[in-house]
Amino acid sequence: LAKVEVDLAKIPEGKNVVIKWRGKPVFIRHRTSGEIAEANATQLSELRDPQNDSDRVKKPEWLVMLGVCTHLGCVPIGEAGDYGGWYCPCHGSHYDISGRIRKGPAPLNLEIPAYDFDGEDKLVIG
Ligand code: FES
Repeated sequence: LAKVEVDLAKIPEGKNVVIKWRGKPVFIRHRTSGEIAEANATQLSELRDPQNDSDRVKKPEWLVMLGVCTHLGCVPIGEAGDYGGWYCPCHGSHYDISGRIRKGPAPLNLEIPAYDFDGEDKLVIG
């Protein structure tokens, strides 16, 4: 139960998948090259919780993070909000395509869980 395996071959580019890990949702997005470029083009000075995209991913095309809003813990909605990422409907927090907080009351970026890749197509969370 501590670890969860995910078959990445089943997640097409440009799609989100939500899985459960330790009772929490984990968001996995297969990012497009355009999304990766956008995430990298963002200046740290624009960010409330400054973090480079490259420090949030192990492979740029795979964004893996806890689906728990850092405000009060609601589950944000994917492909929504003003920054092309996630939107938390509870009190209106907007996260970008790197899961970084951009607008609304949440103080921090969506958290990155421990994970690793096992070969090309397997992700192990935990
Ligand atoms: Fe997400 Fe408040 S819990 S904005």
